[in-house]
Amino acid sequence: MIFRQLFDSTSGTYTYLIASRQGGEALIIDPVLEKVDRYLQLVRELDLKLVKAVDTHLHADHITGLGALRDRTHCITVMGEQTMADVVSMRVAEGDRVSIEGLSLDVLYTPGHTDDSYSFLNGGRVFTGDTLLIRGTGRTDFQNGDPRQQYDSIFNKLLKLPDDTLVYPAHDYKGDTVSTIGEEKRFNPRLRVQSVDEYVDLMNNLNLPNPKMMDVAVPANIHVGLHQDEIAAKGWAVSAVEALALRGRPDVAIVDLREKAEREKHGAIPGALHAPYPELRENIGAGGMLHELALATGKRIVFYCAFGERSAMAVEAAQAAGLISACHIEGGIDAWKKANGPLVRDSAARQL
Ligand SMILES: [Fe+2]
Repeated sequence: MIFRQLFDSTSGTYTYLIASRQGGEALIIDPVLEKVDRYLQLVRELDLKLVKAVDTHLHADHITGLGALRDRTHCITVMGEQTMADVVSMRVAEGDRVSIEGLSLDVLYTPGHTDDSYSFLNGGRVFTGDTLLIRGTGRTDFQNGDPRQQYDSIFNKLLKLPDDTLVYPAHDYKGDTVSTIGEEKRFNPRLRVQSVDEYVDLMNNLNLPNPKMMDVAVPANIHVGLHQDEIAAKGWAVSAVEALALRGRPDVAIVDLREKAEREKHGAIPGALHAPYPELRENIGAGGMLHELALATGKRIVFYCAFGERSAMAVEAAQAAGLISACHIEGGIDAWKKANGPLVRDSAARQL
């Protein structure tokens, strides 16, 4: 396994690059915008393919690298379902898994620092965001923070992990890089409270100044989505309502780009083909299934995903590959549901 902890000294942020092997798929957690060049250089040097970029929560102290990484690598952006960020490719919730080739992260909802704070567990490592820091905990006084929720997230979820689980936080300001659950139980001063009320009291009386970057970072991090309007302006998008009328037409092939787990959880458009986004390049290239389908049958390829971000990237790639009738459903299955579009569970979806 490849595991790299990277540091942004300006914001004190730790970023993690993970992959199961050299030459394989990689995932990055909590990237910082200013460091994107460095991450991509490392990705190249290790011969990796960045396929997912995850933020543990909406950060207030730095601008996320999620959007820039997506624009430069076409990776899938991932955040929790509560996030205020306008568009990410994939929204996850407690019990979900974020998977790449050879490894996956278990998703733990750990609100309190913010209401969209998540932790991610990979074997003996837990990435705790700003929920649990080394000998500290994330502040709870803005962005819908809640010390009572944080107490619950820490005491009833994170501290229930095995004592030897390695704790990798999103920040450190003292130079510590890693801890363990057992160590934090014993030595974290914030956790030496006798009750939830005592913790709430402690957190409500920290009187911290706001982060320097807050007024810049929060609005920037909310607007992280790809500009789907630019795709629409090229005539490469249909609304969910327009897509309803396309369904079942013999000259149209609706293609679902999501992962199996997403289709099972959220349902799929009846009759849609399934071609997961990570395999897009092969599918639309010469000899690929979608390429051949479009050429042989003249069908219009209509991509969709969860919120329209992966499908917007797919349209651009398909158009570049010569599939000039390709378009996507703006807003994805989320918009389709809002338009009362019918859904089936995964078993009915056809596999490409
Ligand atoms: Fe934070």
